Amino acid sequence: MCGIIGYIGHREAYGILIKGLKRLEYRGYDSAGIALSNNDYRVYKCKGKVSDLEEQTKDKDIKGRIGIGHTRWATHGEPTDNNAHPHKSMNGKFVIIHNGIIENYNKLKNSLENEGYQFESETDTEVLANLIEFYYLNNRKNGKSFSPEDAVRAALNMVVGAYGLVILCEDYPDQMIAARKGSPLVIGIGKSEYFIASDATPIVEFTDSVIYLNDDDIAVLDDNGLSLRNLKNIAQTPDIHKIKLEVSEIEKNGFDHYMLKEIYEQPRAIRDTYRGRLNFNSKFLRLGGLHNVFQQLTEANRIIIIACGTSWHSGIVGEYLFEEFTRISTEVEYASEFRYRNPVINKGDIVIAISQSGETADTLAAIQLAKKAGAIVIGICNVVGSSIARETVAGVFTHAGPEIGVASTKAFTTQITVLTMMAMSIGLANKKLAKDEFTVLIDELYAIPEKIEKILTKSEKIKKIAIEISNATNSLYLGRGYLFPVALEGALKLKEISYIHAEGYPAAEMKHGPIALIDEKMPVIVLATEDKSYEKIVSNIQEVKARKGVIIAIVTEGDTTIKQMADYVIEVPKTDFALAPLLTVIPLQLLSYYIAVERGCNVDQPRNLAKSVTVE
Ligand code: G6P
Repeated sequence: MCGIIGYIGHREAYGILIKGLKRLEYRGYDSAGIALSNNDYRVYKCKGKVSDLEEQTKDKDIKGRIGIGHTRWATHGEPTDNNAHPHKSMNGKFVIIHNGIIENYNKLKNSLENEGYQFESETDTEVLANLIEFYYLNNRKNGKSFSPEDAVRAALNMVVGAYGLVILCEDYPDQMIAARKGSPLVIGIGKSEYFIASDATPIVEFTDSVIYLNDDDIAVLDDNGLSLRNLKNIAQTPDIHKIKLEVSEIEKNGFDHYMLKEIYEQPRAIRDTYRGRLNFNSKFLRLGGLHNVFQQLTEANRIIIIACGTSWHSGIVGEYLFEEFTRISTEVEYASEFRYRNPVINKGDIVIAISQSGETADTLAAIQLAKKAGAIVIGICNVVGSSIARETVAGVFTHAGPEIGVASTKAFTTQITVLTMMAMSIGLANKKLAKDEFTVLIDELYAIPEKIEKILTKSEKIKKIAIEISNATNSLYLGRGYLFPVALEGALKLKEISYIHAEGYPAAEMKHGPIALIDEKMPVIVLATEDKSYEKIVSNIQEVKARKGVIIAIVTEGDTTIKQMADYVIEVPKTDFALAPLLTVIPLQLLSYYIAVERGCNVDQPRNLAKSVTVE
């Protein structure tokens, strides 16, 4: 949600900023802007994409070895040129870019207006720019020494909310300041140069040494190097990490869209997720990241899973897995509901937070609440070094690699892979999962990537079905048991990228409402692989057919019964019931993708959405 990039060093900043913004555009894409410093500073910004900004700056002065750039997902104020970042303070002393929300911005704005400040935009960010300037100018009256860093600190001590900020000051053209609370910022350390960004994607091609800023950190970058102090002005020791991210991982590599590339990456991503954790020959499974809490996990009375969006859907699969294999009572909560409804959390409860980005604001806040109440909080994250990964006491990384397409795909299947391994290892340890069942599951899990590869070979067939139903305005996704969350996920994928209204439902609930919607124009996607409720799902299909709904059924290879009833059938290889989500979701991802392409939608950057939701 909003992408931030900054550069200070010996190269021309413009190219680095534009390229960086393109890499970060998946975080927000309604407007973009840059500021370049070359003893003065120039700001260019506009509504629209980074390519529009590039067009706008074609004949402009783009010189400068210091610069900041921003790509926005609007929170306060519509996406307009004026509301785009960077924002200048009224007297032009400061220019800033911001990711997050200043909650008390109205109050601060009123006080600044009383001091004579006027505002050009509707943003909370401009308030912050002016607040910093106000402290700066006021405290420097009569020749007093008060640095831009002092002014930033004074202003941020007045702020309630979340921010990742990068700031330039006109009087200090060789300096850049960054500050963080709640919204992520990474500093890349090169040879006599620094990069700042919301995540490591724009930095990797220059350096693999990074510092993840902590909440309340204020970093000052200039010719003297990097100084790190906190809001209380106490020096902090920078903790330098090495990142393992290849540039090729963040490029499309010949695919038309990131989403398609990421769908096709799933066999690799799942293998990477279980590699080194599962030994298929010795049937051994160990999740090293859970070592320090494993005993508590096996003795837990209750597990609470918190997440948002697609991660919440994999959480429901997790609930089914945990209850089946470990017999530990498990609940799944939307992080946003959990944190605001005074939940019962007992000391020793296990809370598992699932998040691809590791930055989702609601999930992060729910973790903090759970920790305060004495729960043991474990993370399942994709992004190493992310806030959630750092906030949790233990966890398992998904190793999906960077997920750039806004519609999540490989994050879902790798999260389920981790949840399966967790449930299996706890179940074996607390003796609720028999050794022979455990062994069968290991073999089945091992075979999943190959089975996904087989499903991916059917993409042309899925594309044809997609084209046939691409004019629909409504659709229904039905599934039972482990396939109910897959129905939710399939529906979410379709609405996110094609803007067709889609609902996911437990198949048996259809008759309590959604059945009223069914007519000959309504595609009903039924997850109908062979399991213990197969007969029931066949009845549900007949109920839809009787109302002339168009049936697209996902079935087990070799199924003959449903073939005779459904309008379209997509086969997936047989697997254990518990692992069926990993296979059945693949055709649904492809179906949404091809429908969206057919409708001319922007698959990787669907309207109004953002990849990483760092505001509440
Ligand atoms: C956004 C993304 C979704 C994602 C959700 C939760 O809405 O568009 O794809 O599932 O946030 O994100 P997280 O990073 O916490 O999994």
